[in-house]
Amino acid sequence: MTPYRQLYRRSIENPEAFWGEQASLIKWFKSPENILSRDEKGLYRWYSDGVMNTCYLAVDKHVEEGRGDQVALIYDSPVTKVVEKFTYNDLQKNVSTLAGGLQKLGVQKGDRVVIYMPLVPEALFSMLACARIGAVHSVVFGGFAPHELAVRIDDAQPKVIISASCGIEIDRVIAYKPMLDDAISKSIFKPQHTVILQRPMMTADMWPGRDVDYNELVQNSPSADCVPLNANDPLYILYTSGTTGKPKGILRDNGGHAVALRFSMDHIYNVKAGDVFWAASDVGWVVGHSYMVYGPLLQGCTTLLYEGKPVRTPDAGAFWRVVEQHKVNILFTAPTAFRAIKKEDPEGELLHKYDISSLHRLYLAGERCDVPTWYWATEMLKVPVVDHWWQTESGWPIVAQMPSIEEHLLLKPGSAGKPIPGYKIDVLNEEGELLIPNQEGFVAIKLPLPPGCLPDLYNDTDRFISSYLEKFPGYYLTGDGGYKDEEDYVYIMGRVDDVINVAGHRLSTGEMEEMVAAHPFVAECAVVGIADELKGHLPLAYVVVRDGVVPNELLIEKELVKLIRDNIGAVACFKNCVLVKRLPKTRSGKILRRLLRNIADGEHYIVPSTIDDPLILTEVHDALKARRIGQAFIGVVDDE
Ligand code: COA
Ligand code: AMP
Repeated sequence: MTPYRQLYRRSIENPEAFWGEQASLIKWFKSPENILSRDEKGLYRWYSDGVMNTCYLAVDKHVEEGRGDQVALIYDSPVTKVVEKFTYNDLQKNVSTLAGGLQKLGVQKGDRVVIYMPLVPEALFSMLACARIGAVHSVVFGGFAPHELAVRIDDAQPKVIISASCGIEIDRVIAYKPMLDDAISKSIFKPQHTVILQRPMMTADMWPGRDVDYNELVQNSPSADCVPLNANDPLYILYTSGTTGKPKGILRDNGGHAVALRFSMDHIYNVKAGDVFWAASDVGWVVGHSYMVYGPLLQGCTTLLYEGKPVRTPDAGAFWRVVEQHKVNILFTAPTAFRAIKKEDPEGELLHKYDISSLHRLYLAGERCDVPTWYWATEMLKVPVVDHWWQTESGWPIVAQMPSIEEHLLLKPGSAGKPIPGYKIDVLNEEGELLIPNQEGFVAIKLPLPPGCLPDLYNDTDRFISSYLEKFPGYYLTGDGGYKDEEDYVYIMGRVDDVINVAGHRLSTGEMEEMVAAHPFVAECAVVGIADELKGHLPLAYVVVRDGVVPNELLIEKELVKLIRDNIGAVACFKNCVLVKRLPKTRSGKILRRLLRNIADGEHYIVPSTIDDPLILTEVHDALKARRIGQAFIGVVDDE
């Protein structure tokens, strides 16, 4: 049996012994004796009697162990032309004084703090400062519009919100503070204070009494120590798109998270203290939480925060400049970033200008990695390109590779790899029956999930159970479809629900549909994700207008584009709607969304026998063709 098989088997056959051993590799204030248990709601909990502090492990421990002068964080910002380095000593000072400042503002253990910031070091300091004092952070992606922020404020009810005056996109400065003010005016719950980082590119007006200047707060506050926390105390809430307008508040505990991330840094990323780890993501996403902040710092690595894009800051050589300049060992990003680079520099001419010999491996996640992009990246970089699959819910990889114990990685293009220890993955049919290799179905994970995965949803156990645990008893439903081959390699083919990935950003078409449906012009609509060469998916709305509304497609499209941009944000990349007279439905009235997607993608599809009126499909084809949207003109139809 291979070392991978041995390790994997042990984790599945005796999870308590396996994760008990892994727990002993981190430093606890009080080691856990109760490795796996169930709480009063019957949900699994890891290390329920352990006491520790994640910020201590990520910062102070390294200082105590003599690595205070090692660089902990490199901030590389091509959009502001700044490169700044922070040692672990600097990090400790910045984090502990901000933590003291938060305490001065009344923030205590268990209080929530929302962080709505661009990619600046202070975003990372803020997360760690919360962790230090046991406050629960909830980072909201800076690209979300005020409505999305307001929804999260109402759910998390933060005592304080930390934000900045502005963010910098490729070609413009984005005023964050007015968006924050707008969100607070829209939310029912009001925070006591906001802490605002004033950036020189655009300063913000402050509300006396409520708004506090970030730098003044830090300068005038004593440093705060790490508070001992129970392993099950929440570290953060991260909202992610579900199938409705209400995002799910994914809860992350402290103990299981620290153990799982350490395990992943050792085995999946195979890095050690001092290595330079660069996750080119955003702290607003789970990749940012786990692999820009906690994972690398728990391991004593140098983490890199890059405030820029793979292209146009200034060109498609940007990533290679950063790798060379900072001697990056591990790069982690979404396939869409590589598609963007490939589009602008297909022959790798810019790449060849730089020395990227420090790079050990490239990791891709966030969306399915298409095979041509995988080959291109492999050929260009000449290092293993490791696709791996995970979700906000898991917080760390479910399917990947383990270079720590496998000298030669067997990478299969199109597959995200093999199940990682702790994850027993089964592919099931609608009835919950196990499928044989190469048959596609629902990808489910046998309970208990390993440490690090969500134990519950924030304040919504009913939804946790109904969304994830009810469909297949004894399993966690991932929401992804896919299959396993004979060698247990897992192929993730896409979501089976109303969630799409736009440039690696997880968004809900269900939410967009609710918004479009509420527009006064709209009688009925369906929003689906259609294939896009660069961004993976793009949302497309099919709209039936109300009686009496002039069906001016471009005008209605303009209105709806503005609606989604103003409410969800530009990241939704909602650009198109087509008007149709009717939507294809089953005789019982269910909209055939998959068919709408297949038609737009020019895919072979079968007309279901339950369809109410098949003629509608021709109308849909014609509407798409007229606008040259998607690939409708090459679609193939069969009768069932
Ligand atoms: N704050 C405000 N606005 C933001 C934003 C932020 N943090 N991030 C993105 N936006 C805006 C952009 O300015 C853009 O607005 P526009 O439509 O007015 O131009 C819009 O949202 C879409 O942004 P983006 O998806 O980044 O598209 P792009 O065309 O600017 O860049 C890529 C395309 C592929 C280069 C870019 O999406 C990318 O780097 N993707 C990698 C994604 C990633 O790391 N995902 C995390 C999972 S690992
Ligand atoms: P998020 O919660 O934002 O990390 O998005 C999780 C979703 O992204 C998953 O449920 C998948 O649909 C998709 N995803 C992430 N990584 C991969 C991958 N390597 N291959 C295929 N899909 C992926």
